[in-house]
Amino acid sequence: MTTTAAIMDRYSQVMFPAATPYHGDSPLVADRAKDQYIWDIEGRRYLDFFGGILTVSVGHCNDEITERTLAQLQKLQHTSTIYVNEIMVRLAEKVAELTPGRLQKCFFTNSGTEANETAVLAARMYTGNPVVITLRHAYSGRSMLAMSLSAQRPWRLGGVNDPYVRHARNPYTFRAPAGMSLEQVVDLCVQDLEEIIATSTEGRIAAFMAEPIQGAGGFIVPPEDYFRRILPIVREAGGVFISDEVQTGWGRTGGKWFGIEQWGVEPDIMTFAKGMGNGSPIGCTIAIPEIADAVAGLTFSTFGGNPVTMATTLATIEYMEAHDTPTNCAVQGQRMANKLAEFAAEFPIIGETRGMGLMQAIEFVQPGGSEPDAGRTIAFVDACKEKGLLLGKGGLYGNVVRIAPHLNVSGEDMDIAMDIVASALAELS
Ligand SMILES: Cc1ncc(COP(=O)(O)O)c(C=O)c1O
Repeated sequence: MTTTAAIMDRYSQVMFPAATPYHGDSPLVADRAKDQYIWDIEGRRYLDFFGGILTVSVGHCNDEITERTLAQLQKLQHTSTIYVNEIMVRLAEKVAELTPGRLQKCFFTNSGTEANETAVLAARMYTGNPVVITLRHAYSGRSMLAMSLSAQRPWRLGGVNDPYVRHARNPYTFRAPAGMSLEQVVDLCVQDLEEIIATSTEGRIAAFMAEPIQGAGGFIVPPEDYFRRILPIVREAGGVFISDEVQTGWGRTGGKWFGIEQWGVEPDIMTFAKGMGNGSPIGCTIAIPEIADAVAGLTFSTFGGNPVTMATTLATIEYMEAHDTPTNCAVQGQRMANKLAEFAAEFPIIGETRGMGLMQAIEFVQPGGSEPDAGRTIAFVDACKEKGLLLGKGGLYGNVVRIAPHLNVSGEDMDIAMDIVASALAELS
């Protein structure tokens, strides 16, 4: 029989060690999956509340989507962008229909990294300025530029440092200087952005790029007026606003299709990947027409707009529409948030619980204090796995648990998951 140990032994011989799997000495070797469940190679079943990092958005091997993927696979598999396929146009039309404001023209790639690269390219060509400002604790991907845009030490490898990227203070209210109100945290962020523009640029910028809720950063939710206060400064410096919706897009935050809509501002460019295609490799950049048109010259992506990926993604979005998953995210997200708030009141190892919709986090601290507790975070995620529940980790200090079930999660599964979370918390307290 093939065991986890035997596969991991082979894995270590042939894979880069930097791609470290979760769960230390007992990693999960996945064998198969269906809807909300994954089975490991030894036949154990897990309830998946991380969805391959917020990517399997409407269930593993979803029958309705698989059927349409297979039909496309048998009809037309690949053309590259040198020929047009109708399914690509249909998907672009759908994305333009659902995104807010004047966002209208799409460029398809294969990952969030490439979607962000494309967004920065477009912003730089449109404005004629090179400087891009992102936020501390951001995660933007793994190319050299995307690692530069990212602002978490563990994710910046190879001496990466794009000379035109700056990082502004993020609205991490839980770790702001003691005693500050939400308004004062926003004041601090505004001041920092103004100072960066005044002191380390020539006064003009290409873009300000932000995740509406920082994902890998630990589901950091900005105060209500944060983006409304930041954007006038960005526009004043000639910059466009790129909303990185790789984690927050497609209804995840509840009630609205895109995370940034919760803050009542309109981006000039949005980027997507992950949950948009329910697990098929996709990146998408959508821009207002004049920005898209400014990318004059030659660029292409061999697999971008691949008909099979397009069909899978269109099927995923149509499934979300038909099942009104943004509403489910709001309803089940509230159910989870209420439970987590109860746990926060009960267990002093929790510093804060926070989130929006089906994007909820627990930040672990040394009991009663605010010192990050990464060790307990790992132990907690491992304990939940032992009890049959898969969760994610995150945060610059490795002390945040990310809970992000499928967008069509049921109330029953939510209750099962929260019971497991409660029992793991009790064990580790
Ligand atoms: C907000 C955000 N942007 C971009 C990326 C990069 O996406 P990918 O891993 O598909 O390149 C990620 C990946 O986690 C992400 O969370």
